[in-house]
Amino acid sequence: MKYIIAPSILSADFGNLQRDIEMINQSEADWFHVDVMDGVFVPNISFGFPVMAAVKKHAIKPLDVHLMIVEPDKYIEDFAKAGADRITVHYEACTHLHRTIQLIKASGCKAGVALNPHTPVTLLQDVIEDLDLVLIMSVNPGFGGQAFIHNTYKKIKDLKVMIQGVNENLIIEVDGGVGLQNIATLITAGANAFVAGNAVFATDSPTQTISQMKSLTTSTIS
Ligand code: DX5
Ligand code: ZN
Repeated sequence: MKYIIAPSILSADFGNLQRDIEMINQSEADWFHVDVMDGVFVPNISFGFPVMAAVKKHAIKPLDVHLMIVEPDKYIEDFAKAGADRITVHYEACTHLHRTIQLIKASGCKAGVALNPHTPVTLLQDVIEDLDLVLIMSVNPGFGGQAFIHNTYKKIKDLKVMIQGVNENLIIEVDGGVGLQNIATLITAGANAFVAGNAVFATDSPTQTISQMKSLTTSTIS
């Protein structure tokens, strides 16, 4: 099983964005996690295409784009053109989720769906075969640095059962309050991709923290 560490650039220093991107390039991280917030779906605005283009210009690893926006269908093609490798939309923001997933795939990207803490994994039953990734939010989306919600473990276990014999290659990604203290337990529950903002960027040595996270993924038996 390959485990993914995806530092969230939401917690980077935007005044030194190129420096932070190079840090991730040189580290053992696997993906760049790119949080796009519109101030409507979530009570915060992060950044849009110009910043994403700047990230793409320097990043040598895949961009894992997490869209916390309403009406994502309008922008999927644009995010694909801006360099997204994976696009994840929120279940709660999509009236026609099946259509949105097909749009993402048609744009050439891998398709993911994110679930807010109150949204059960069972609601994905009828699209689970079409997905490359499910992003389980372990905080209410909108901000970095929030406390991890414990019920996430149960949701990961439920999802793991749900994909058995159906889509076993699905990536189960966890986002919010993830760090050295809970990665091992998350792996045991069944997660295989880890987004980390504060846990990486608020440390003295982000590179070393990423390396420690990566070591946890190789030493923990799932
Ligand atoms: C929250 C974002 C997260 C955020 C995680 O809405 O989706 O990706 O950057 O930040 P931490 O790891 O600090 O909780
Ligand atoms: Zn995110």
